[in-house]
Amino acid sequence: MPGTVFLEGDNINLRTIEDDDIEFLRDGVNHPEVRVYMGNRRPQNLENEEDFFEEQVCGEDSVHLMISRDEEKLGIITLMPQGDDAEKLAEIGIWIHPKYHGNGYGTEASRLITEYAFNQLNYHKVYARAYEGNKASQSVWEKLGFNKEGVFKDHTFTQGKYKDVVYYGVLEGEWQ
Ligand SMILES: CC(C)(COP(=O)(O)OP(=O)(O)OC[C@H]1O[C@@H](n2cnc3c(N)ncnc32)[C@H](O)[C@@H]1OP(=O)(O)O)[C@@H](O)C(=O)NCCC(=O)NCCS
Repeated sequence: MPGTVFLEGDNINLRTIEDDDIEFLRDGVNHPEVRVYMGNRRPQNLENEEDFFEEQVCGEDSVHLMISRDEEKLGIITLMPQGDDAEKLAEIGIWIHPKYHGNGYGTEASRLITEYAFNQLNYHKVYARAYEGNKASQSVWEKLGFNKEGVFKDHTFTQGKYKDVVYYGVLEGEWQ
């Protein structure tokens, strides 16, 4: 049974994540075109995903939503508070299953969750990190008007190399 729609977009919706979604989560996070950009180095089986569901999705502070088109699952998006409450700072994480890449879904989902972060959760700043060479991710943040704030040199290791990590951020007063 699909989760209920929480945030509604023009082409996609963001739905609650339910027990039935765990197999889809496992398949997505293990996909080579997803995990190389997410820092997932080890295989994640159903039990790992059940733990993720219990500990993170059902946790109190963070927001995890299924990106869906009608009842089809496309990927997930998360909003994780960083620091303590005074900082009002949150990080977005997102992946879309590669068979649905390039249709604008990642950009629309990121727009919806950023609006939600500012308008409903009253965050002051939202940011995202993109690995060097992850053009699709960088394009999402740039199209949405996030500022490229800085580059952390050799900040991750993936595909046999150290890679830079680019930080993109937007303040509530800058978000249109
Ligand atoms: C980043 C990601 C969520 C974007 O999702 P998406 O639905 O494909 O995004 P959109 O369709 O809105 O497109 C975003 C941009 O990426 C480009 N793009 C999509 N797939 C691409 C690919 N395989 N290679 C290069 N660019 C690609 C699109 O052309 C678009 O850029 P443009 O508008 O300048 O042409 C998706 O690529 C993904 O899940 N990647 C793997 C995990 C990941 O990188 N997560 C983000 C970590 S911050």
